[in-house]
Amino acid sequence: MYFTSFACMLTLVVLYLFPKEFPLFVLIMSVANMVEARCCFKLLYAIVVVLLLHMSSPCIGCSERDRQALLALKQGLVGDDGDSLLSWGREAQNKNCCQWEGVYCSSNQTGHVVKLDLEDQSLRGKISPELVKLQHLEYLDLSFNNFSGSKIPDFIGSLSNSRHLDLSSANFGGQIPNQLGNLTHFQYLNLSSYGYGGIRPVNSIHAKNLNWLPYLSGLKHLDLSFTNLSDVVGWLEAVNMLPKLRKLILSACKLPPPIISSVSLMNSSNSLVHVDLSSNNLNSSIFQWLSGTHTNLVYLDLSWNNFRGTSIPASFGNMSSLAHLSLHRSQLEGGIPNSVAKLCRL
Ligand SMILES: *[C@@H]1O[C@H](CO)[C@@H](O)[C@H](O)[C@H]1NC(C)=O
Ligand SMILES: *[C@@H]1O[C@H](CO)[C@@H](O)[C@H](O)[C@H]1NC(C)=O
Ligand SMILES: *[C@@H]1O[C@H](CO)[C@@H](O)[C@H](O)[C@H]1NC(C)=O
Ligand SMILES: *[C@@H]1O[C@H](CO)[C@@H](O)[C@H](O)[C@H]1NC(C)=O
Ligand SMILES: *[C@@H]1O[C@H](CO)[C@@H](O)[C@H](O)[C@H]1NC(C)=O
Ligand SMILES: *[C@@H]1O[C@H](CO)[C@@H](O)[C@H](O)[C@H]1NC(C)=O
Ligand SMILES: *[C@@H]1O[C@H](CO)[C@@H](O)[C@H](O)[C@H]1NC(C)=O
Ligand SMILES: *[C@@H]1O[C@H](CO)[C@@H](O)[C@H](O)[C@H]1NC(C)=O
Repeated sequence: MYFTSFACMLTLVVLYLFPKEFPLFVLIMSVANMVEARCCFKLLYAIVVVLLLHMSSPCIGCSERDRQALLALKQGLVGDDGDSLLSWGREAQNKNCCQWEGVYCSSNQTGHVVKLDLEDQSLRGKISPELVKLQHLEYLDLSFNNFSGSKIPDFIGSLSNSRHLDLSSANFGGQIPNQLGNLTHFQYLNLSSYGYGGIRPVNSIHAKNLNWLPYLSGLKHLDLSFTNLSDVVGWLEAVNMLPKLRKLILSACKLPPPIISSVSLMNSSNSLVHVDLSSNNLNSSIFQWLSGTHTNLVYLDLSWNNFRGTSIPASFGNMSSLAHLSLHRSQLEGGIPNSVAKLCRL
């Protein structure tokens, strides 16, 4: 008797928590069946109750706190024609924010927003600080919108679960906030500022230093193209402290010539696969950094730099994985060293 009720309750709990675990349900049911046939009716009753529970709460899968945060975010943003282009909160899907366009929730039943993909929605306006209430947010893409040269908000630094941040081509400006250093889970950071609609922002994104960068120790992809890093003398040291970095794109950043120290040589990252340092003010000291250690490099673009008076170093022959090499318009002199012939994937 006690066992039967226990089996029935267990079935109910399992069904409610794991509606997809049907095989388990069947197993428990057959055990219960063997014990007492009467339980079958109880089980049917339980199934009906569970189904009703699910139907009467369409809100399941959307946390109320996250829904409010999204609505606040929507308030601050407008579409190009003055109306919000976001369909968020329209009657039919009002409650369940997990179904809103560009909003993705965690796959478990907690209903937290984990991903926000608002790329190219013709948005402008202000990003509400309420955004940080999305505490489970891992992925934020606001690229290809128009934030009119405004600064990247400091509170971005409070999105402590963030792994992926794309603010590229969104007409942000001003200084990169040091608070980015708080986002130690970052794997992807793209602040590439090639202008929205092809128009370069007047007050381009810039930085005095990259002291925040080494904190992002899990970073795999970094793109700061078209930001102004002309004052960042120690940029190479900062980049070197990212042990997992695979893709480094610092094109047209007004990078000053690198200062090569024993540290930057010792720690030059072996994980790099793709390096684009084109259109900067680099001198040939960069070859020292690249030499020898970068055996995994597949893509290297050093075009439009200032290597006046030097020739292609023989050490390039050691980059055995290299499949793409751009060196044009960088004032290199002399011929191509024999060692480069070893690069059979080029
Ligand atoms: C559900 O997913 C969120 C976001 O991925 C996570 O923070 C939370 O711990 C998960 N909850 C459970 C009970 O697994
Ligand atoms: C950065 O992290 C520290 C410690 O976790 C926290 O006190 C601070 O408020 C955070 N700053 C921002 C801007 O998120
Ligand atoms: C960064 O965003 C730009 C578009 O704005 C894109 O072209 C570029 O490939 C992105 N960089 C990375 C590393 O994904
Ligand atoms: C971006 O918005 C500003 C005003 O907020 C406007 O002056 C500018 O033309 C817009 N840029 C583009 C490319 O639409
Ligand atoms: C880049 O930044 C430097 C110093 O921060 C400044 O002197 C220069 O005018 C900036 N260049 C542009 C094009 O914004
Ligand atoms: C260089 O790398 C070593 C080992 O990976 C590490 O212990 C050290 O802190 C790094 N030095 C700097 C300045 O990043
Ligand atoms: C490159 O520039 C740096 C910084 O100005 C300087 O220390 C270094 O000697 C230069 N390297 C070459 C090869 O001219
Ligand atoms: C290429 O690598 C080999 C083995 O690591 C080393 O002995 C040689 O000096 C390197 N060649 C150049 C030109 O750096």
